[in-house]
Amino acid sequence: MQSCLDTQVCPDTQVCPDTEVNVLHVGIIMDGNGRWAQRRGWTRLRGHEAGLDAIRRVVEAAPAQGIGTLTLYAFSSDNWRRPEAEVAGLMGLLRFYLNNEVRSLKRNGVRLSVIGRRDRLPDGIAVLIANAEAATRSGAALHLRIAVDYSGRDAILNAAAQAGTAALTREDFARLVTGEPGLRDVDLIIRTSGEKRLSDFLLWESAYAELHFTERMWPDFDARDLAAALAAFQGRERRFGGLGALPFAPVHGEPRLQAASAALTPATVRVAI
Ligand code: FPP
Repeated sequence: MQSCLDTQVCPDTQVCPDTEVNVLHVGIIMDGNGRWAQRRGWTRLRGHEAGLDAIRRVVEAAPAQGIGTLTLYAFSSDNWRRPEAEVAGLMGLLRFYLNNEVRSLKRNGVRLSVIGRRDRLPDGIAVLIANAEAATRSGAALHLRIAVDYSGRDAILNAAAQAGTAALTREDFARLVTGEPGLRDVDLIIRTSGEKRLSDFLLWESAYAELHFTERMWPDFDARDLAAALAAFQGRERRFGGLGALPFAPVHGEPRLQAASAALTPATVRVAI
């Protein structure tokens, strides 16, 4: 299905009649794997393994809940500071995921992207990422972005270096930060495990994101938890700096209409540009 968020297809004055697409961009800081495992007397790695099951559940549930883009924080650039064995275990899980999930992602219309640095990943992983991205490129039900060796500050720094002295719009700069044109700003960031901080996640993209913190540990997180977070989000009044609730999210804070985000139904969302 063609997304009306594509301004190449729909000029911004045009309303796309009766177009139903999933539009929300949700980011998740998947926290609590280690504590979840340690409370059971297990290794932290077992918590990360259980975290992978939670990823499968959430990816499966997301499109039916109105999510078009899902960004998951799997490994921050600061996570290299963890013990070698834990880092190796996490990289092993990433390799496993890339080797084993692509068929299921394709079947479910999921397009996979991995964001973050690739040059420090263990041998072979960058190639697996490129292959998985190419194989799932046409997925239209959900854009799944997994952040690995990712730092929001570094993404902004790199964009600034590329921009040089050019005078850019917010939209142009966003393209440099995110690496892709037209990526929707984050609507909602969920963090599990009771911690309440952003930890260098999607700093540019989350300028007007709503934040949802839950005590649930990531390995226990499921479709009902996702629905509860979205229900809380639906209850928020999003004003984007104005005085009343806006029916549309402005593009990067500019007074242009991008996509309906206030009156969303969980199942589908009508988009008008
Ligand atoms: C934070 O919990 C979680 C991580 C740093 C890793 C997240 C990884 C997964 C969910 C599975 C791996 C998936 C892929 C695709 C590689 P924590 O371990 O810091 O939890 P704690 O705060 O309880 O110690």
